[in-house]
Amino acid sequence: MVRVAPSILSADFACLGDDISAVAPETDMLHVDVMDGHFVPNLTIGPPVVAAIRRHAPGTFLDCHLMMTNPGDYLDAFKQAGADSCSVHVEVDATADLIAHMRRLGLGVGLAVNPETPFAAARPWLADIDMLLIMTVHPGFGGQHFMAEVVPKVSEARAAADAADLSLAIQVDGGIDPETAPAVAAAGADVLVAGSAIFGEDDPLQAARAIRQAAARAAGADR
Ligand code: DX5
Ligand code: ZN
Repeated sequence: MVRVAPSILSADFACLGDDISAVAPETDMLHVDVMDGHFVPNLTIGPPVVAAIRRHAPGTFLDCHLMMTNPGDYLDAFKQAGADSCSVHVEVDATADLIAHMRRLGLGVGLAVNPETPFAAARPWLADIDMLLIMTVHPGFGGQHFMAEVVPKVSEARAAADAADLSLAIQVDGGIDPETAPAVAAAGADVLVAGSAIFGEDDPLQAARAIRQAAARAAGADR
């Protein structure tokens, strides 16, 4: 089963509630990109906005992608705001503490890896996390080109998870659209984040559906 995670980074922040509602029927989880201006050269949103989304969409699974140097300082605030899960980057190099912290709070646990970070950096943590987030662009901005060279990392992660009999979700993030979705789905990704390919389209709901269908066909055919 392929899940679709619309990234609100490409939504219109002046009418965020409306944009979220418009894609609700095709939203398995909502992807909230949190950028601190330090881990990545951009600033986005924080716990107050997550709390507002939680009030607007009480039943929606909120997954926060924390592109932050000090995510541990904010996990409690994101939990308090209503986040269901958070992903922290393996590159911040505090993985054991951050996983324990997220578990203690009852958050779903995600671990993110940048395009240039090898799968080996994530491998030791696979049994301790719920979701591996494989970046298919350099984090920081929406609307970038999909990096096809990352696809083997998805295959590697899926093979490792299968070999260890882990029910690990593998999320891909960056440049996902109906053309790129089949390759990552065939490689074993089962959560597809898409921002510009959904909210940048005239009909975001139909755009999300097109990504799901393209991915589901490939997953069914190749796995
Ligand atoms: C990039 C973010 C992505 C971004 C993806 O740093 O982590 O979630 O929203 O945007 P698109 O789908 O436009 O590549
Ligand atoms: Zn993201």
